[in-house]
Amino acid sequence: MANDYIVKDINLAAFGRKELDIAETEMPGLMALRTEYGESKPLAGARIVGSLHMTIQTAVLIETLVALGADVRWASCNIFSTQDHAAAAIAAGGTPVFAIKGQSLEEHWDYLDKSFMFPEGPNLILDDGGDATLYILLGARIEGGEAFGVATSEEEVAIQAQIKKRMEASPGWFTKMRDQIKGVSEETTTGVHRLYDLVKKGQLPFPAINVNDSVTKSKFDNKYGCKESLVDGIRRATDTMMAGKVAVVMGYGDVGKGSAASLRGAGARVKVTEVDPICALQAAMDGFEVVLLEDVVSSADIFITTTGNKDVIRIEHMREMKDMAIVGNIGHFDNEIQVAALKNHKWTNIKEQVDMIEMPNGNRLILLSEGRLLNLGNATGHPSFVMSASFTNQVLAQMELWMKGDEYKNDVYILPKHLDEKVARLHLDRIGVKLSKLDADQAAYIGVSPDGPFKPEHYRY
Ligand code: NAI
Repeated sequence: MANDYIVKDINLAAFGRKELDIAETEMPGLMALRTEYGESKPLAGARIVGSLHMTIQTAVLIETLVALGADVRWASCNIFSTQDHAAAAIAAGGTPVFAIKGQSLEEHWDYLDKSFMFPEGPNLILDDGGDATLYILLGARIEGGEAFGVATSEEEVAIQAQIKKRMEASPGWFTKMRDQIKGVSEETTTGVHRLYDLVKKGQLPFPAINVNDSVTKSKFDNKYGCKESLVDGIRRATDTMMAGKVAVVMGYGDVGKGSAASLRGAGARVKVTEVDPICALQAAMDGFEVVLLEDVVSSADIFITTTGNKDVIRIEHMREMKDMAIVGNIGHFDNEIQVAALKNHKWTNIKEQVDMIEMPNGNRLILLSEGRLLNLGNATGHPSFVMSASFTNQVLAQMELWMKGDEYKNDVYILPKHLDEKVARLHLDRIGVKLSKLDADQAAYIGVSPDGPFKPEHYRY
């Protein structure tokens, strides 16, 4: 089909290709999979719907899936995270992609819908945050007679409108899509929560692979990725002097650990809030003061949510903040900050994804990416090298679902440890890591094989 894509400007493709070429040199895991499986094409026949930030790194992932034989259609999972030159390069290369930086919420669901439009329908989903999975499963349940819940957010209004539109245009479509999907691989913590919730309710109709909880994903991308990309986003958005400022990081999970390290690395004085005593103790022993938001809200300069939870920074907090406080989120959804409660205040747009909001007491806040994940909205997300580890897991998960999906139950699975170790191994050479080797005697002494796996399942890294 001619022009089976929606991108900002197809003329950006040449620029995108140059950056893709550079990214490939930093993504050894994906390139190794191309070498290992490029000829045998294990994904031949797979028709993959991708819903994941349409960045340069994702472009290398897409081209790897295609090199392994898959047909792919792609949408972004966030309205601000697309890199338009990356989308253009993918479209120019012949893979349908529907993604524009700054698209509306209506377009978000419409583009996702378009990414399902393979002539024969898709058979796999590669998801980030769970929107593609939600779209199909909610639509199928509505077709099955369930009523929509009351929409409480703009997101819910938009998805319900899109589902109604599709149901009118093609009755029975969602059920048909649901029945032909063989499985989903999920990229992030928030999407994984949604999957386990579906299992609990008996509503997961196909197997799912939790890519997030591969060690080489969450302990690297979520942590070291955010360590690089959080401050990058704040700087590109505000150019503020970071050193000496007081920053509060809400949540000290993997993303929180990386975010706190990012701000500390930039010279900020970092405080942490937590609800989990283990993570709170970790933060304290990493040298961060663990506080209540209420106690620091009127004195801190920068506030970053990393919890994957909702209503963490509430309107009453924002009313207490000092003039020109910076507020942003790096968790998956924007509901960590009560942005909706700010809508009736005076907004001044400074530049794309940066707004200044005047509070009733006259103080102004700088809000990044309207509360959506700022490292992808205000900067370009994580660097290629760490995304290579994440996406190598994604490709292995897609291969597993495509080739052995029938052996799995409708449950959520994690890739086996030997593959996790393989992903790590593929990234050692690029940074000159020399790995020591166990001799047979030593291996027997600690009860492992000299070639791994090197740790039991319960080991936490
Ligand atoms: P996690 O579960 O490891 O950490 C979240 C932490 O927040 C937990 O320790 C939890 O106890 C804490 N928490 C929950 N509610 C809280 C509250 N009200 N106040 C203070 N702390 C609270 O999850 P992870 O992997 O760190 O992911 C966090 C979010 O970031 C998720 O939405 C995930 O999808 C997203 N993510 C974003 C990335 C990005 O590049 N922007 C990359 C990876 C994940």
